Amino acid sequence: MFLKCELKVWKMEEKEKVEEKKPLLRLGETAPDFEAVTTHGKIKLSDFKGKWVILFSHPADFTPVCTTEFVAFAKINNELVKRNVKLIGLSIDSTFSHIAWVRKIKEKFGITIPFPVIADLDMKVANLFGMIHPGESATAAVRCVFVIDPEMKLRAMIYYPLNVGRNMQEILRLVDALQTADKYKVAAPANWRPGEDVIVPPPATQEAAEKRLQEGYECVDWFLCKKKLPT
Ligand code: BEZ
Repeated sequence: MFLKCELKVWKMEEKEKVEEKKPLLRLGETAPDFEAVTTHGKIKLSDFKGKWVILFSHPADFTPVCTTEFVAFAKINNELVKRNVKLIGLSIDSTFSHIAWVRKIKEKFGITIPFPVIADLDMKVANLFGMIHPGESATAAVRCVFVIDPEMKLRAMIYYPLNVGRNMQEILRLVDALQTADKYKVAAPANWRPGEDVIVPPPATQEAAEKRLQEGYECVDWFLCKKKLPT
């Protein structure tokens, strides 16, 4: 009974420690740099400056949902490379565990995992990025996706719980939308897919609003206008 109480206090203290360390990352800020040991050797986030980076975490090696996600991430890797995106995985497991798991994935699915996987045993990167959500687990990362641009700015964050795998098509769509928005200074409407019309930034002045409907866009009203992009 006494031991049970002590264990409960220890668990609460650990949870508080995680909460204390958890930074609030905000979109538009520079992603915190880190150095980490991975299945491809040591890396620093800043090594990939000039590329987009998708840093994603998974709760644990040799677990079913994570295995389906790893296969799925590997399958979209070529599409990500075409978009100048470097994929980096992470979990709070050892390099040996990662190596054994990626070898098992190769054996069972015939898929080579082409991206490095961070062995974050001391939770340094997980704490830096707020990947530990104690309400889900105090010892495993939730399913995070951080989209980091070539200037190392955090451009999007997705968090999924332990029991739901992520949608790879949405991750590709998000990258396409961010890159299109940057290139053409436009915005992507709900459910936008590449090739579809994009939103023209709404006018910022009354005078510009007066002119908007005469500018040749397809408008619902002055504040919601779309245009085609060059093909
Ligand atoms: C999974 O990947 O299947 C999993 C991992 C951690 C908790 C629950 C499920």
